[in-house]
Amino acid sequence: MRGRLVAGNWKSNGDLAANEALLGHIRAAAADLQGAACAVCVPYPYLFQARQVLAHSTVAWGGQDVSQFGAGAYTGAVTAVMLREFDCRYVIVGHSERRSVFGERNEVVAAKFGAASQAGLTPILCVGETLQERETGKMEEVVGAQLDAVIAAKGAAAMGSAVVAYEPVWAIGTGKTATPEQAQAAHAFIRARIAAHHAVIASKLVILYGGSVKAANAGQLFAMPDIDGGLIGGAALVAEEFMAICRAAERR
Ligand code: PGA
Repeated sequence: MRGRLVAGNWKSNGDLAANEALLGHIRAAAADLQGAACAVCVPYPYLFQARQVLAHSTVAWGGQDVSQFGAGAYTGAVTAVMLREFDCRYVIVGHSERRSVFGERNEVVAAKFGAASQAGLTPILCVGETLQERETGKMEEVVGAQLDAVIAAKGAAAMGSAVVAYEPVWAIGTGKTATPEQAQAAHAFIRARIAAHHAVIASKLVILYGGSVKAANAGQLFAMPDIDGGLIGGAALVAEEFMAICRAAERR
């Protein structure tokens, strides 16, 4: 049976005092979770704090982006090895905000995925279509190309140590969640795309849904057969809400 995971994506939010309270709450509440793992992806400057508060707990932590390069003259870039030094387990790669605001193309995302894997991090590879792409029937084409770029560069076997997050761009931060059926269809498509290369890896691949997940809709989404948890933005900043989403992913 596949694992369940709920990961928070804090984006560019937080401050030391608020983080202390949020991380402390998550640490305590996560101890009771059964059959669901929980993680937080925090801004780089707060990784030290996340490690301090979450060490020896059931909660994992990670970054929200990583350099596609190793150490060297790359001003502003943070390497995968640096993230490992802070005991990160996860790193988000290819989030739609990185793709649209920072212009990251599929090839760059694939390189970041490779850098993360090579350093022993678990990449959370984000894929998803815009509203216009969905309305013009291009969801599979777009998501397929996003997956294929990583498979072409790193091989399907690399998916064996990764997590995929399906995040329709039109659902992120909009309050407009994909219906469980829409999300399930996309997740089944993603699993089939990987299965065409490697059936066993596809069957074990954890595929998260992201985009306006809240405590009120998480249960319905996580009940779908190919949805293995969530990547949570806004709701991950509210301790009670985030933990309610984690509990909705439990398998007892
Ligand atoms: P949201 O963000 O939950 O605020 O929609 C999800 C994400 O961008 O990962």
